[in-house]
Amino acid sequence: MTIEHQPTQLEQAGSQPLPDADRIAGRFPLEKNTSPADQATYDGIMKDLTFGHRFTDHMAHMAWTPQQGWHDREIIPFRDLTVSPAAAVFHYSQSVFEGLKAYRHEDGSVWTFRPGYNAARINHSAHRLALPQMDREDFVGSLVDYVRADEKWVPDVEGSSLYLRPFMFASEAFLGVHSASRIDYYVIGSPSGPYFVGGFQPVSIWVSRGFHRAGPGGTGSAKAGGNYAASLLPQQLAGEKGFSQVCFLDSYEERYLEELGGMNMFVVMSDGRVCTPELTGVILEGGTRSAICQLLRSQGVDVEEKPIALDDLVSGIQSGAVSEVFACGTAAVVTPIGRLANDDFDVTIPVGPVTEKIYHQLTDIQMGRADDPFNWTYRIC
Ligand code: COI
Repeated sequence: MTIEHQPTQLEQAGSQPLPDADRIAGRFPLEKNTSPADQATYDGIMKDLTFGHRFTDHMAHMAWTPQQGWHDREIIPFRDLTVSPAAAVFHYSQSVFEGLKAYRHEDGSVWTFRPGYNAARINHSAHRLALPQMDREDFVGSLVDYVRADEKWVPDVEGSSLYLRPFMFASEAFLGVHSASRIDYYVIGSPSGPYFVGGFQPVSIWVSRGFHRAGPGGTGSAKAGGNYAASLLPQQLAGEKGFSQVCFLDSYEERYLEELGGMNMFVVMSDGRVCTPELTGVILEGGTRSAICQLLRSQGVDVEEKPIALDDLVSGIQSGAVSEVFACGTAAVVTPIGRLANDDFDVTIPVGPVTEKIYHQLTDIQMGRADDPFNWTYRIC
């Protein structure tokens, strides 16, 4: 039986119509970079696209103080920042970020995907980290003005995009523990190929015991840098064993799946149901997770958001009741999980048709090759 899905607050906020890009463009005036990358450097970067290593000529910025609110909106040359070593972010990690992509369609136009959802989520994250809220016109406007300034950096190769990284941090120079009274917000972008080298290839996952990413009442549902910092040691240890990602379990019983270091998880059952860990407030409400749930439900697939016990997953893989497992996120899109292990088990899972189909359906919408029934795509230029 398919249970009627109630849209989450982020889904509701994210589906509110946005003004066209032309109507919000120009909020962030451009100071042109007079020393942009030279042609050879540009060609070299665009020819060899990796994930997140190289950056474009400009960035968006605005600042916040309690007196002025958000101010000094600007697009400026990409450069190192001058920030006091006493800035609160270095000491107390008061910072949040987002991840989106700008896609080049076949006709040359540039689009992004559900920016209203990310605008709502940065405010959700900012609230939890005692950072200021921003208007979604500022959030989306910063993307529009930044991408328009650096449009030539949006690649046109299959599987590539300009990865957009908006982030906000406490820049007040003060060592007391309180929410900062000076905040800076930036958007930088990285012309990128697939997150995992090799693209749509199965990854291997080590299930972490003893280390947890977040706990009830903590910052797990916020896109806060500290959550990712907490995932690094287990990820490093898993890497030493030859695994590319870590799956975190709940911190009470170490029984239920939560998420990978930076991706949500889906389990495909051989009876056609698709399951994903429910939103408990501890895991990140991924935009790709939400899009996949909506796409599958629109095709009549029974998608269950519920607790998924690791023991059931492993025995299901062994018995054949589970046919596919995949991870998803903005950066990684949809990535099959081909192996799941920890000290007690080591199981392999084939790459299956549901994972492949959802990958193609999502990327076809993002790249403008398929209809966009949910109005998820947003034209930047
Ligand atoms: C994304 O998928 O955009 C993320 O933010 C995950 C990540 C690369 C940390």
